[in-house]
Amino acid sequence: MKKTKVICFANNKGGSGKSTTCSNVGYGLTLFGNKVLLIDGDMQLNLSLSLFDEDQVLSFARGEKNLYEGIRRQDDLTDYIVHSEYENLDLIPSSTLMSSIEYELFTKWQREYILKRGLKSIIQSGNYDYILIDAPPTLGGWVMNILCASDEIIIPVESSPWGMFGLGNMFEFLQDVKEIAPDLIIGGVVITKVDARKNYFKQTIESLRELEDVKVFETFIRVDSAIEWSQDGHQPVTAFKKGSRAAKEYLDLTREIAGLPV
Ligand SMILES: Nc1ncnc2c1ncn2[C@@H]1O[C@H](COP(=O)(O)OP(=O)(O)OP(=O)(O)O)[C@@H](O)[C@H]1O
Ligand SMILES: [Mg+2]
Repeated sequence: MKKTKVICFANNKGGSGKSTTCSNVGYGLTLFGNKVLLIDGDMQLNLSLSLFDEDQVLSFARGEKNLYEGIRRQDDLTDYIVHSEYENLDLIPSSTLMSSIEYELFTKWQREYILKRGLKSIIQSGNYDYILIDAPPTLGGWVMNILCASDEIIIPVESSPWGMFGLGNMFEFLQDVKEIAPDLIIGGVVITKVDARKNYFKQTIESLRELEDVKVFETFIRVDSAIEWSQDGHQPVTAFKKGSRAAKEYLDLTREIAGLPV
């Protein structure tokens, strides 16, 4: 039976590459022989759109098979899993109604642990090697649920001054989270959307490496139009264009996350 590792991709700074990294690392892990469940925790539906077209994503969102319904009803989330066209890659889709998830959580017993409870059977079944959760760009009770359900958090950070500023807030928040999720590990920071023509990213990397106790992944992800084209086609970048720079970088990052030699 598999021991399932739960990793979330979170950062309250919007547009830092959470959804892009979650979907591409998820697909990458399947290429290295893993079975992966992706969970779309954001009302923007971006992770769902990374694998399914708009019509399909909206039909999940308007129907009953989405994370919002599962959380609202406090169900076992096994029944909310859909299969993607890729082998060993499944998804729990999101809904735009996730915008009212904080309200739903408010009245519930032990409200930080509802997602964790919903995932219990899936983890116990040993069906998946990894569960990857895409978090929204917020830091409320719902993100707390995501962190409490995770073994590890990976923080994608955009190489920009405001990206670096946001990271400080994120670490402060993680200090508070320790009280209710004492076993959560900070898996590392991944620098995304690097424009290698600018020197700013070198400064970003240097200042990140100065932080104590924080792993910064060796692999950083550069800006590549293949990412946008792959998202336009609802495909992981490695499936869309295997020879692209982004495909190579995401496979390297996947190896680092899985502890495989890069
Ligand atoms: N390496 C890259 N090259 C080019 N564009 C990228 C790259 N990574 C991400 N993007 C684009 O940047 C935007 C933000 O990325 P993404 O949606 O993954 O960030 P996010 O952190 O999930 O955002 P949000 O906080 O809104 O959930 C998207 O339009 C995506 O297509
Ligand atoms: Mg996102």
